[in-house]
Amino acid sequence: MRSRTAAVTSVALSTAAALLVPAAAQTATAAEVRPRVSGHRGAAGYAPENTLPSFDKADALGVDWVETDVQRTRDGELILLHDRDLRRTTNVETVFPSRANRAVGDFTAAELARLDAGSWKGAPFAGTRIPTLSQTLDRLDRNGQNLLLEIKQPDLHPGIEGDILDVLARKGWLDENHVRNRLTVMSFGTNSVRTIHQKRPDLMTSVLVSSRPSLSALRGYATYADQVNPDYRQVSGDFVATVHALKGAHGKRLETVPWVVNTASAARTVAGWGVDGMTSDLPDVVDKALG
Ligand code: G3P
Ligand code: CA
Repeated sequence: MRSRTAAVTSVALSTAAALLVPAAAQTATAAEVRPRVSGHRGAAGYAPENTLPSFDKADALGVDWVETDVQRTRDGELILLHDRDLRRTTNVETVFPSRANRAVGDFTAAELARLDAGSWKGAPFAGTRIPTLSQTLDRLDRNGQNLLLEIKQPDLHPGIEGDILDVLARKGWLDENHVRNRLTVMSFGTNSVRTIHQKRPDLMTSVLVSSRPSLSALRGYATYADQVNPDYRQVSGDFVATVHALKGAHGKRLETVPWVVNTASAARTVAGWGVDGMTSDLPDVVDKALG
């Protein structure tokens, strides 16, 4: 987790490993590279998901990569929230009792800034705010952390891809270092991932899938994505081998980084299949399990 090596992409790790071993052993060595463990929604098992305390908790655990979900407010601010609706993770019903609709896109950034997004996770987090993407990028830079940025519900936020790229550019996250080593953009919305790839072909991208894709679907994703990431329960050794036999959008081996692995036994099983990484709400538990 906390090391310069861990911050390098697994593609780079595979390449580095390949330089050190005879050609005949290269395939086995690449498959044995330790999967990278990323903190899901920060360190969501310990702190309110998708908030600055959650990223700080991941940092305190030595987690270099964090995953988060971005959406857009009614007035165009990019903020972090997983659900379409604010009720599960905020006190929106108390602060805005008369509002019939509690979807993120129906609120302005100023309205969201009034919400408590921490108390639901425990009293120590009372008063935690929903962060903007911009605030998050600053915090990750301060912590030296890297980002798996999921575009959530892109169909509800038309044009959000361009808005995200604008913020990333403004905060310095589209420079060579960030693009090569510190950022992957992903979504269940394949059109959204394709749009990101078309606008910024140098960025690493992932397609998230809710069911195991066919070979033909994988081939399509590989034209604009570097990774195809299912729920870990849909992964198998055969699936990983099928993914790894393809080349991704940047001509490197297509990768797979399943989500969300929260037990030591599942982590060891998934790692044994040769995955390139995994996300976890309990990244310290999973990291320890991998040894
Ligand atoms: O890393 C992908 C994973 O976050 C997708 O699932 O529902 O947690 O956004 P979800
Ligand atoms: Ca997510």
